Amino acid sequence: MTWMEPETFEILYGGSGWLKEEGDEIIILAIESSCDETSAAVVRNGLEVLSNVVASQVELHKKYGGVVPEIASRKHLELINPVISEALHQAGVEFGELDAVAATYGPGLVGSLLVGLTAAKTLAYALQVPFIGINHIVGHIYANFISNNEIQAPVLCLTVSGGHSDLLYFEELGSYELLGSTRDDAAGEAFDKIARVLGLGYPGGPAIERISREGNPAAIDFPRPFIDEDTYDFSFSGLKTAVLNYLNSQKQRKAEINVADVAASFQQAVIDVLIAKVLKAVENYPVKSVILSGGVSANSSLREQLARRLEEYNLPLYTPELQYCTDNAAMIGSVAYYKYLKRDFSPLTLAAKANLKL
Ligand code: KG4
Ligand code: ZN
Repeated sequence: MTWMEPETFEILYGGSGWLKEEGDEIIILAIESSCDETSAAVVRNGLEVLSNVVASQVELHKKYGGVVPEIASRKHLELINPVISEALHQAGVEFGELDAVAATYGPGLVGSLLVGLTAAKTLAYALQVPFIGINHIVGHIYANFISNNEIQAPVLCLTVSGGHSDLLYFEELGSYELLGSTRDDAAGEAFDKIARVLGLGYPGGPAIERISREGNPAAIDFPRPFIDEDTYDFSFSGLKTAVLNYLNSQKQRKAEINVADVAASFQQAVIDVLIAKVLKAVENYPVKSVILSGGVSANSSLREQLARRLEEYNLPLYTPELQYCTDNAAMIGSVAYYKYLKRDFSPLTLAAKANLKL
């Protein structure tokens, strides 16, 4: 979809004759503020990350056991300008060298999105360069292309984060077929909730992964929701309830709770379901590469087990480098480059969309 016709762009920016073409050096400042990370990156020609500054608010939200939207947006306000300055400084790039400014405009927390989005629009207007609004989920997909240059289409992409669990199939970037998604909690959300009840703190994914290394993944037989059903959809709330019921019944019986075993068994249940859906898609679509994206793709057990299972199909698994798995602006800058080449610019009236779809 083109958000701004070239003519509109000319009226707004006073002529587009100076726009660069593929092959020119195109430097984009990208901003990501959809949840609790304030991030700015400078990306050259889509794949060359000159800087990727991420200011995490994790410490601030830890005591509440999750992200508090109001606190997140206030913190973004404090951090946004220093983070942008630091990204330019680390890249050795001046404002005047920027060819475009991009920002995530959804999905995410609306108050958080607004901070990065407004900063990007303001800068684009002041610098008289195009502004490019980016879908956060598309950013997670592109994170793979920053780290890997051998990915071949058609691609199957499993995006698993705190906000989404989506299985996507695509032959070319830009047109995605959504095979399935979660019907309730996202995978990362389930990790965060279970970590909270186990007293492991926030964010839950890394904490569960860490303690699981000392536990037995087969200790408790938690359900694998939807694993055999004829759908690519996921559901994690029943699994969450099963873990809560297990903990309650152990407490009632005054039986011991081995936190490492519970964490490992829960993690294994999530991984089994995710892998089953990926394999089902691989059997039904002419997939040449499988890619993982989103915060949960940082999970090394998921990576290892999925890669091993895909070997049976002679299929490679690509994952982003760890710094590009969780929220970051470099992935936003990467998408923005391809949009720039297509002159797919956004109007400065673009609004934040909490529930933006692919
Ligand atoms: O992509 P992301 O940074 O933010 C969203 O767009 O949601 O993902 C954050 C989510 C959190 O739920 C976090 O617990 C989970 O990713 N996560 C992990 C791991 N690292 C982060 N889940 C499992 N294992 C991990 N190592
Ligand atoms: Zn994300």
